[in-house]
Amino acid sequence: MFNNTYLLPTMHSTILVTGGAGFIGSNLIKYILEHSNTHIVNLDALTYAGNLQNLTDVELDSRYTFVHGSIQNAEIVRYVLRRYNISGIINCAAESHVDRSIQSAQPFVDTNINGTLVLLEAAKEYGIRRFLQMSTDEVYGSLGAEGFFTEETPLQPNSPYSASKAASDCLVRSFVHTHNLDAVITRCSNNYGPYQFPEKLIPLMISNAVNDISLPVYGDGMNVRDWIYVTDHCSGVWQAYQHGKAGEVYNFGGKSEKYNIDVVKMILQGVGKDESLITYVKDRPGHDKRYAIDCTKAERELQWQPTVTFEEGLAKTIAWYQDNNAWVENVRSGAYLAYYAKQYQQ
Ligand code: NAD
Ligand code: DAU
Repeated sequence: MFNNTYLLPTMHSTILVTGGAGFIGSNLIKYILEHSNTHIVNLDALTYAGNLQNLTDVELDSRYTFVHGSIQNAEIVRYVLRRYNISGIINCAAESHVDRSIQSAQPFVDTNINGTLVLLEAAKEYGIRRFLQMSTDEVYGSLGAEGFFTEETPLQPNSPYSASKAASDCLVRSFVHTHNLDAVITRCSNNYGPYQFPEKLIPLMISNAVNDISLPVYGDGMNVRDWIYVTDHCSGVWQAYQHGKAGEVYNFGGKSEKYNIDVVKMILQGVGKDESLITYVKDRPGHDKRYAIDCTKAERELQWQPTVTFEEGLAKTIAWYQDNNAWVENVRSGAYLAYYAKQYQQ
């Protein structure tokens, strides 16, 4: 089926996952530990979005190690690669929220571009056998009513966040072509599921609805996103890490396009709250209209498919947030409250 199985992790191979205390990173670490014998070192700076509570299930697993540090710090990165004899890197570490990049772009340049460059230089120096860059469909820009993003779609990022991700993708590409680094890039649509920081649409709307706080919908609510349950993204990333071809890009999507307003109404129905909680607020500047992914290439070359329907995934996600209100309350404090006040002031 796959002709490059030399990349399959051996019994004791150790990989570095960066940003593993975040939403996708923590789900990915659990997915890999469950589906392989791989050892994982998680390097995370523990920004506002990083939370070690996301990993309590695996913290005692002998195959898992946490190191506190930034991917911008070349000394720490090189120490980790040496100390743990790292054979591969999955780079999930990033500043990931579009609205924050509009408030202040510098941290996005620092981590997403400069941090990725530090990892690439270290990967080259230490002969890393595989580098996976977790990118995003937002690098392709925005679609009209028709069409899909393919891996051939030109990069046309519209926000400081997506511009920083596109820049890091270009750096990865350049290390493949110039230095023969064995790297793949994955570009996924909007994820949702447990442990997502409640600044993103779905966890924000669930947490607000549960707590009877108004649900702030940008503009007319008619922007479209293609939603994918986080474990479907994790399975795609793990397939791409093991079987993707060096230098290739793989798109992943949930085949589940929805208008924002419909997502918000489904959440209210799931939580059992009234639509009167919806408030239309000032639109996001430069707001991308529609994202939709053609993932034929991943289906064909990685034998990957999204498996969770939006209805099923949303029900599981709502149940998780209802059962874990303490987790939400813990992260909805301090600096989050200042961010929220600034973002949603009218
Ligand atoms: P997140 O914001 O939940 O987590 C980011 C993690 O990176 C946090 O644990 C944070 O502490 C860590 N981090 C930030 N700066 C760091 C640094 N300098 N050094 C080390 N760690 C650092 O993000 P997420 O939603 O889990 O996204 C993970 C990756 O997937 C990002 O690269 C993002 O661009 C990409 N992505 C996200 C989505 C989505 O819908 N959330 C979709 C496609 C791609
Ligand atoms: O497409 C992949 C991208 O999806 C990832 O690369 C990003 O890291 C991730 O944050 C996400 O970006 P979006 O900007 O699409 O996600 P967000 O959850 O911020 O917003 C989803 C949609 O909901 C978008 O059209 C804006 C809208 N929205 C969002 C918030 C936070 C609202 O209407 N109100 C809100 O309060």
